[in-house]
Amino acid sequence: MRSLMSAARRGLIAGLALALPALAVAQPAPAAVTAAPASAPVSTAPPPLGNGADNAGMTRPAPAGLYQALGEREGIARIMDDLVNRAMADARIGPIFKDTKAQALKDSLTLQICVLAGGPCVYEGDNMKAAHADFVITKGDFNRLVELLQFAMDGQNVPFTQQNRLLALLAPMHGDVITRR
Ligand code: HEM
Repeated sequence: MRSLMSAARRGLIAGLALALPALAVAQPAPAAVTAAPASAPVSTAPPPLGNGADNAGMTRPAPAGLYQALGEREGIARIMDDLVNRAMADARIGPIFKDTKAQALKDSLTLQICVLAGGPCVYEGDNMKAAHADFVITKGDFNRLVELLQFAMDGQNVPFTQQNRLLALLAPMHGDVITRR
């Protein structure tokens, strides 16, 4: 059973890694903006950076029931507490968080995931590009954080299918989070 679970987990991570380039390609091409006539009345400017302007990075509606499956705001806070503790202690990605105030990051992540999962929260932190721009973050670092998030969700007994739903909402953010290719 244990090896089956870890095989499934490896498969998921491999699937995410494979899906990432495809998701990047699926972003709308900015070329369309320059092709618009100069007199076009509709603004095509991107939203401003920061202060939750991109609605917590939400790219699609939350799957029904995900907020409840994560244990609502208290459950999400417990998952983020465990995730940030794991990330800061991790041999691979821990050093990236050396100057991070743990509680502030836990609180901000809790609000973001609450919004993404369909909960009644407001995320007011930076958008994902601005939040990560000052750090060196690789695809391997991203995948490691995803793995630690899975461990944290396991710890709160979040069902595997619901875990995958949350990961599917986070995967499209890789292009804004990864700063070193
Ligand atoms: C989809 C994946 C990720 C999400 C949703 C996410 C989300 C966030 C959020 C919400 C913040 C706080 C922004 C604010 O309050 O203004 C943040 C900050 C940060 N994230 Fe991420 N993050 C992701 C991936 C990563 C990865 C892979 C790393 C590095 C391994 C990372 C490292 C950091 C660091 C160092 C900060 C700044 C913390 C500080 O203020 O010192 N993040 N992230």
